[in-house]
Amino acid sequence: LSEVARAVDELRSDKLLHVRVAHKEIVAQDILLFELVSTNGLPLPAFSAGSHVDIYLPGGLTRQYSLCNNPAESHRYHIAVLRNDDGRGGSRAMHQLVDKGDTLTISLPKNHFHISETATASVLFAGGIGITPLLSMAERMSATGHSFALHYCTRSRARTAFWERIESSGFSDSVFCYFSEEPTDLLLDLPRVLRTCDPNAHLYTCGPKGFMDAVLMAAREEGWSEDRLHYEVFNAELAKLPTDGSFEVELAKSQRTIRVAANETVIEALSANGIQVPVSCEQGVCGTCLTRVLQGQPDHRDFFLTPEEREAGDQFLPCCSRALSSTLLLDL
Ligand code: FES
Repeated sequence: LSEVARAVDELRSDKLLHVRVAHKEIVAQDILLFELVSTNGLPLPAFSAGSHVDIYLPGGLTRQYSLCNNPAESHRYHIAVLRNDDGRGGSRAMHQLVDKGDTLTISLPKNHFHISETATASVLFAGGIGITPLLSMAERMSATGHSFALHYCTRSRARTAFWERIESSGFSDSVFCYFSEEPTDLLLDLPRVLRTCDPNAHLYTCGPKGFMDAVLMAAREEGWSEDRLHYEVFNAELAKLPTDGSFEVELAKSQRTIRVAANETVIEALSANGIQVPVSCEQGVCGTCLTRVLQGQPDHRDFFLTPEEREAGDQFLPCCSRALSSTLLLDL
């Protein structure tokens, strides 16, 4: 219900776009590229490198996909979708139900993964389909003469989306590919790459959680400060543990107490009781639902807070995180 209500709200406030699928193409094993164009021939709203759009899929699901074309383009949006048969159905719906000629409803581009304005150099680490926002960043960095290197890790050449596009680009010399399932001379030596970066370089990574955890842990061990680390996970699987139990949230401002059942999120429990907290990704990625915790111990399940912010325990992401204490007192 919350997704439907949000879509209606956004339609009323002109935050939604209708686009046509102009092209659908296989760009690697299990990965399809979709080209989206406006339905009225007008230019699409501009986007910055690192942006994504919410796509309202046939069947009622909403999913976020990064825009992976050159951000200087206004005649199209490109998204690439990896099919995940073990996922929650979003990628299957894109692969099976969306075809050339179809009209889709999408959000305006949003960006939670900006290129730092102050960086003098950058290093980008892409794991698999995580290449999508980083490819758009590479286009932008190349166009502005920004110094960067893109390290792109996949399982095999066949699973490497955009190989030809990268090879024929003006920045191909700045891209290094690694294939974990193929014999190769080139192995990603994270500590060595990180040590040889400009001391003020910023790091950007996107990909599966294990990949990003490894990149970020290596950077922290090499002494990179948090303000130089930028990351984004899309279609993250919400961590559900068999030991998850119910707990209560007390709302300081509205003086109410809501029980969160073992099988629901805090956002779902609040929404069922008529309390709406703004959400976007609902996967602990974007930070939209960030809420102050006044008392109690959060059980952080997000990908947004830094280790220091988690440690402080005074804020959490109620779309995915839970409680270690029996009650959380929230600033709501
Ligand atoms: S809605 Fe994105 S982190 Fe909660």
